[in-house]
Amino acid sequence: MNLDRMKTVPNPETSFFRNLTEKLRSTMPEHEIDEALPLIKEIHLLKKEKNALILGHNYMTPDVYHGVSDFTGDSLALARKAASVDSDIILFNGVHFMAETAAILNPDRLVLISDPKAGCSLAESINAEDVRELKRQFPDIPVVTYVNCSAAVKAETDICCTSANALQVIESLPSSKVIFLPDVYLAQNIQNQTDKEIISWEKGKCMVHEQYNVDDLNAARNQFDDLLIIAHPECPPQVIESADFSGSTSEMSSYIAKNHAKNLLLLTECGMADNLRSEFQDRHFISTCHTCPHMKRIHLKGIRDSLLYTQYEVKVPEEIRIKARKAVDRMLTLV
Ligand code: 13P
Ligand code: SF4
Repeated sequence: MNLDRMKTVPNPETSFFRNLTEKLRSTMPEHEIDEALPLIKEIHLLKKEKNALILGHNYMTPDVYHGVSDFTGDSLALARKAASVDSDIILFNGVHFMAETAAILNPDRLVLISDPKAGCSLAESINAEDVRELKRQFPDIPVVTYVNCSAAVKAETDICCTSANALQVIESLPSSKVIFLPDVYLAQNIQNQTDKEIISWEKGKCMVHEQYNVDDLNAARNQFDDLLIIAHPECPPQVIESADFSGSTSEMSSYIAKNHAKNLLLLTECGMADNLRSEFQDRHFISTCHTCPHMKRIHLKGIRDSLLYTQYEVKVPEEIRIKARKAVDRMLTLV
């Protein structure tokens, strides 16, 4: 530990740390907060030293989400923010495809991820050759890829989308048929809202959201009155049809802010409800959720080491980056 650096650690009595401790108390036991605070202080100092900005996905654990992130959001908001960052380093607290999107959009910055093994079952379900084969099979049909895929897959694509804008992106295309990759459930959920014919990729499923089923919803409805059930659109169609609302992770927060109900069931990754609990302290978040093992690879110690040792760089080969950028830019200029 660099003692000179520790001398200038922010005072634990500052309002930032007092507010943070309050927020963390709604989800973390006291001894874990005590362990987290020194690391959080060290990360703040390293950020300053290295001129780094931390982007954090909504699924980060509360210590990472509330403690060290400069900007939080869903994948669309984080992509937009990444494009305009002017710090020397962007440290991306999320999974690899999200950090790659930052590197696609802002090639002049050093993009880091604290664990390059933080993948995604959707991104792993498809590669660039699979997309080329589909294009041979269905010539002249536009390809839309959900951002949960590699840069190499994005590079084969006409336009990207996120869970916040998938329907809008598909509706914007002049063709009556669209290839939509890689999430088969998101494809089916959009198929239920559009007249266009969607050709999907059967192998693509989110390992977290595929675990939810209608029994989870029925059990909660039987047990709780004054209940809202909110599901991420990566859930199977029967779940989405039975939920009260479906939207991206940031749309879930906005919906909760606008629609009062005492009890909330979030059918998404556990970090989401953990982070919202501190924001909406008068609500009851029902604790049934599934964890994304990839998102959980990102933790305070790894983040500290990432800044300390400037690791691990996320780089996209230039010829792939330029092609992938066209697909991402097309989405960002549309919505
Ligand atoms: P959002 O774009 O809704 O944040 O979703 C990203 C994701 O990976 C959901 O599992
Ligand atoms: Fe991928 Fe699902 Fe994890 Fe999101 S929750 S990163 S879609 S595996």
